Amino acid sequence: MKKLLIALFLFPVTLVVAVPSAKPRLGEAPVRKIVAAMSLEEKAGLLVGTSMEGYAGEGAVTGRTLKTVPGSAGTTRSLESYGIPTTVMADGPAGLRIDPERAGDARTYFCTAFPIGTMLASTWDEAAIERCGAAMGNEVLEYGCDVILGPGMNIHRHPLCGRNFEYYSEDPLLSGKCGAAMVRGIQSQGVGTSVKHFAANNQESMRLQNDARVSQRALREIYLRGFEIAVKEGRPWTVMSSYNRINGPYTQESRELLTTVLHDEWGYEGLVVSDWIGKRNTVAQVHAGNDLMMPGEPAQAREIVEAVRSGRLAEADVDRCVTRVLEYILRTPRFRKQAVSETPDLEAHAAVSRQVAAEGMVLLRNEGAALPLAAGCNLSVFGVNAYDCIAGGTGAGHVNKAYTVDLDEGLCNAGFRLNTRTADLYAKYMSFGEALLAEQNALRYLGEKWFVPETTLTPEFIASRAADSDAAIVALGRNSGEYNDRPTSDFYLTEAERELLESVCSAFHAAGKKVVVVLNIGGVIETMSWKELPDAILLAWQGGLEAGNAMADVLSGRVSPSGRLPMTFPADYSDHPSSKNFPLDYRGRCGDWADDAPERHLRNLGFTCYEEDIWVGYRYFSTHAPEAVSYPFGYGLGYTTFEWTDAAVRRSGTDYAVTLRVTNTGSRAGREVVELYVAAPQGALPKPVRELRAFAKSRELQPGESQALTLRFAAADLASFDERISAFVVDSGRYMAELGRSADDIVQRLPFVAKASERKVHDVLKPQEPLRRLKF
Ligand code: BGC
Repeated sequence: MKKLLIALFLFPVTLVVAVPSAKPRLGEAPVRKIVAAMSLEEKAGLLVGTSMEGYAGEGAVTGRTLKTVPGSAGTTRSLESYGIPTTVMADGPAGLRIDPERAGDARTYFCTAFPIGTMLASTWDEAAIERCGAAMGNEVLEYGCDVILGPGMNIHRHPLCGRNFEYYSEDPLLSGKCGAAMVRGIQSQGVGTSVKHFAANNQESMRLQNDARVSQRALREIYLRGFEIAVKEGRPWTVMSSYNRINGPYTQESRELLTTVLHDEWGYEGLVVSDWIGKRNTVAQVHAGNDLMMPGEPAQAREIVEAVRSGRLAEADVDRCVTRVLEYILRTPRFRKQAVSETPDLEAHAAVSRQVAAEGMVLLRNEGAALPLAAGCNLSVFGVNAYDCIAGGTGAGHVNKAYTVDLDEGLCNAGFRLNTRTADLYAKYMSFGEALLAEQNALRYLGEKWFVPETTLTPEFIASRAADSDAAIVALGRNSGEYNDRPTSDFYLTEAERELLESVCSAFHAAGKKVVVVLNIGGVIETMSWKELPDAILLAWQGGLEAGNAMADVLSGRVSPSGRLPMTFPADYSDHPSSKNFPLDYRGRCGDWADDAPERHLRNLGFTCYEEDIWVGYRYFSTHAPEAVSYPFGYGLGYTTFEWTDAAVRRSGTDYAVTLRVTNTGSRAGREVVELYVAAPQGALPKPVRELRAFAKSRELQPGESQALTLRFAAADLASFDERISAFVVDSGRYMAELGRSADDIVQRLPFVAKASERKVHDVLKPQEPLRRLKF
C-alpha cells in the first residue's frame, strides 16, 4: 500500500470519472425522460412564448418581435440545460413576414409576396399551390424561421369579412384541398406550418370576444371540414386556435375542440398554438390542449405552476402539452442547427409567384373575343390601381417585398404600347395624390395604406383617347385586412369608378374599340349592375409582387386563363343569408374588450348567430336563390373551348371514381377544370341541391389534344351530419354525379347508387342557447 502511494506521488495520474450529465438532452434522451426530469417551473415556461417585448409598435395584437429574426411574430423559450433551442414563428399566408431592414445592417431581407389565398384557391390546382408552398417554405428556412403562420383556412361565410383574402373559399372541400397542398409544399422544405384560425373565425369585428353560435351540423359539414381535410392530408406541424368562442367557450379553452375533435377524432399529432393574445384563462387553455401560448406573458407560466400546486390543473395536462412542444422543437431547423443562407433565390420565387398568379386569374367575361389583346397594340390604361397595384392584403397577411410590378409596367414588359397622354395624366395625378396623402400623414401599418382615390376625367379627354388608342383597360381595386371587416360601401363601385367605367365604355364603344376591366381586388364586389358595360372582365385578384406581369401574361394571351371562382359573386352582399347575422358597417376595430364589456351582449359583436346554418355560399344560392347570382361558384372562362366525353362513374370498394376525357376543341392552348358535384336523394335532412365532392384540372392541352381525367371520392364523403344521433349519415338510394363548369352549369349527369352508412362522433360543441334557423 505504501508502495502504491509512493508510486502515485511520483507518477500522478488524472482519473477521468464519467459524471453522468445532470440533465437529459433533447434529441439524445427520449422526450418522456426530458419531461420527467424537468421541474414544474421549467415545464410551465416552455408552454409560454417569450412575449413581444422589444416590439416597438403601437400595441396591436399582430405579432412582431425583434428577437432572433426581427419582424417575426414570436419565439418559443429555450432551455439550454436540456439542449432546447428557441424557435421562431412568423406570418403569414401569402409569404414570410419579417422586417426587410435591420438596424446597423446594410443588407435587406425582403420576401416574396405570393398571390393571396383566395387567388391560390382560384387555380383549382393543388400542384401549383404545392409549388408555391415549397418556394414560400424555402424562404422560411433560409431566413432562419421554423414555422410560418399559415395557411389561413376559415370559410368565406360572408363576402365582407376583412380577412377573406387570406382564406380560400366558401366551400370546405376546396379549402381543405388547398390547405393540405400548401402545408405539403411548405413542409417539404423541412419547416412547419400553422393551419389557422381554428375555427369559425369568420369576422374581424370584435374577433377577440365574438361567440360564434353555430349548429353542430354547420360546424361538422362546413366550418370544421376544411380543417379536417388539411390536418389529415397535410399533417401540419401546428394548428392555431382562433381568438373567438364557439358556442360558449373560447376555442383556445375548448377541450372538446382541441382534444376531442382535433386529436381524438382526426388523429392529429402536432402542436396547438394560440393566436396571438394576452393572458386568458391559462388553466383552461392547458387543460383544453392549447399546448403553446403565444406570444406569451410571464404571468401565464406562473399561473400554470400555481394551478398545479393548488390542484386546479393536473400535472399530466401540463406534461402532455410539454411533450408536444418538445416533439415540435425536435422537428425544427433550429434544433437541427441547419445553416441558413439568408439569401433565398428571390428571383426564382418571383417566377413561381408570377406563374401561379397567372393560373389563378378568372376570366369573367369575354364578349367578341376582346381578349387576348392584339400584340403590341396601343392601350389607354385608366384607373389608379393600374399604376399602384395591390399585391396583397394588410395585417398579418402582409409581406415585406422588394417591389410590386404595376399593371402599366407589366403591359410595357409584354410589348404593349401605352397611350402616353393617359399614362402621363395618371403619372401626374398619382404623384399629386401620393404627396397629398403623405402630407395628411396617412397611416401605414403592416401594409395598410391609403390609396389615391379614383378620379374622373373629362368626356373630351376620354373621347380623344378613344380616337388615338386601340383599346382601353380600366383597373378597379379594393384592399382590406386584419382588424376590420369591409364596410358595405366597399362592395359597390364608387361614384367616381362608375363614372369612369361608363364614360370609357361609351367613348371607346362609339369608336368601335374594346374595353377590358381588370379587377385588382381581395374580396367579392358587386358586378351585376355593370358587368355588361365592358367587353371583358379579368378578375386578377391580388397577385403578389409580380401582379402586373401576371396580369399582362393573361391579357396578352401568353397564358390562357384557367382560374375558377372559389366563391359566389352574388347580385348583392345582402343576398347572402349570413347578412342577417353579420356586423355590417361596424366602425370599431376588432376589439380588445374585457370579458364584461357591454359589447359582449350586442348581436353580431359579442355573439353571432349562424342562423343560415349549412346554407353558405353556393349551397344556398343554387338551392334557394339562383337568380341572385351574378357569377356562380366555380365559374370561369378561357380562350379556348373543351369538349367532355366518355364520362362514367365506377365504384371500387368504398370509393367512387368518375372518369372522362377532355379535349381542346378550340384554336388556342389551355387548361380545363372539371368540377364534380353530387346531388343526394331525399332523406331525413334538408340538403343542398348539389355539393362539391371532387375536382380536377387538366395539364395545358394544345388544340385538338385530349387528356383522361379521374375524379375520386369516398362513399363517406356523401354524408350529412345528423345532430340528433351525432353521426355522419349516408342515405341509401340513387345519387347523381354532376360534372359541371360551375355550381350552376352542369354538363353531364351520371346516376349511381350508394348504401346507407352511419359514423358516430362525439356529441360535442353543442349550442348553449337555442339557435333559430332561417327558413327559405
Ligand atoms: C393574427 C394571426 C397572426 C398573429 C401573429 C394575429 O393578430 O390573427 O393570423 O398569425 O397575429 O402575427
